[in-house]
Amino acid sequence: MCQGAALASHNRKPTIMDVRRAMNLFYKNPYDGYDPHMENTGHYPLMKQGLSVLAQEGHVSGKKIVDLGGGSCELLAHILMCKLNQILSTSNGSAPFRLVNVDATESILVGGAARLLRRLGRIKTAGSEHGDNLEIRAHVAGGNWTTLNLNQLRMDRQKQFYDEISLTRPSDAEKELLRINLILEDVLALPDHAKLDLMGANTVLVSYCFHWFIDKPAVATLIRELLAEDGKFVSIEEWPLRVTTPDLSGFEPKERRNRERFYKTLTDAIEAATTPIEVPGKLYELFTAAGLEQIPLTATQREFVNKIDMQHNMFSGVFKRTH
Ligand SMILES: C[S@@+](CC[C@H](N)C(=O)[O-])C[C@H]1O[C@@H](n2cnc3c(N)ncnc32)[C@H](O)[C@@H]1O
Repeated sequence: MCQGAALASHNRKPTIMDVRRAMNLFYKNPYDGYDPHMENTGHYPLMKQGLSVLAQEGHVSGKKIVDLGGGSCELLAHILMCKLNQILSTSNGSAPFRLVNVDATESILVGGAARLLRRLGRIKTAGSEHGDNLEIRAHVAGGNWTTLNLNQLRMDRQKQFYDEISLTRPSDAEKELLRINLILEDVLALPDHAKLDLMGANTVLVSYCFHWFIDKPAVATLIRELLAEDGKFVSIEEWPLRVTTPDLSGFEPKERRNRERFYKTLTDAIEAATTPIEVPGKLYELFTAAGLEQIPLTATQREFVNKIDMQHNMFSGVFKRTH
């Protein structure tokens, strides 16, 4: 059993430092950690299930897929695995497939790099089955290309921050099959060159982030700017926003008090960092005001407006540019 409190709105405007502090606490949660929490509470399974259905219906496509506030890369890693065959069959010299994750919190993005690299390790096995010997290379921030040692990477999270990872086949020399960029930035403070580079995105994704974005209309406008003319924006958000904390009644008093203290600190930090917005009502109005129009979902997709648990729901919507 879990218990949780709906987060209240508060008057003080959060800063990006509040966001980073709360996400660092959440990600490095000593008791269960962000990723296991998202898995165990049903957020990740539902998010991936919803995304797979949207992808099957052609809403997650194109050569440039950008995840804003992508966190520890769960969504990109899922897309990567779904598109494995497509990536491996890219041998005709066409532009490489590109996945981009932008996030403002370093710890979560470093964890994401490790997660992607572990998945890429599995692709290497799949590649061998195709008779290929795939190579994974990382461009360590500010440094040179490095061929990665997968066994070492699998052992644990790497301390280094990879700003670019690519998948190549040695037989194709420098030709890349896949490029992944991990960009450590506030989405609203992207350097001009990074913003220009991301423009023309075929798919922009945002999952479980809008309650965290401080200037929500500005992010909606950015999404509209980044999308290619026929691009799609996929929004996955929960409502109401709640912090679910585990039932601690089974612990010894001292251990229970320690954990209660931690979860109180975490809940307070999340409350200070977030400004909940009603989903879909107010959030989708904001998208419309920014020049994004909702694409009606088919009956199958509608099922993915779904219950995360008895207390909150997940809404997925797909949008295109109005002009
Ligand atoms: C609840 S997490 C969601 C992460 C991921 N999308 C997922 O589905 O698990 C919210 C994320 O938004 C990021 N974030 C919040 N504000 C941001 C901003 N202005 N720029 C970039 N990332 C931001 C946080 O660092 C955090 O990783």
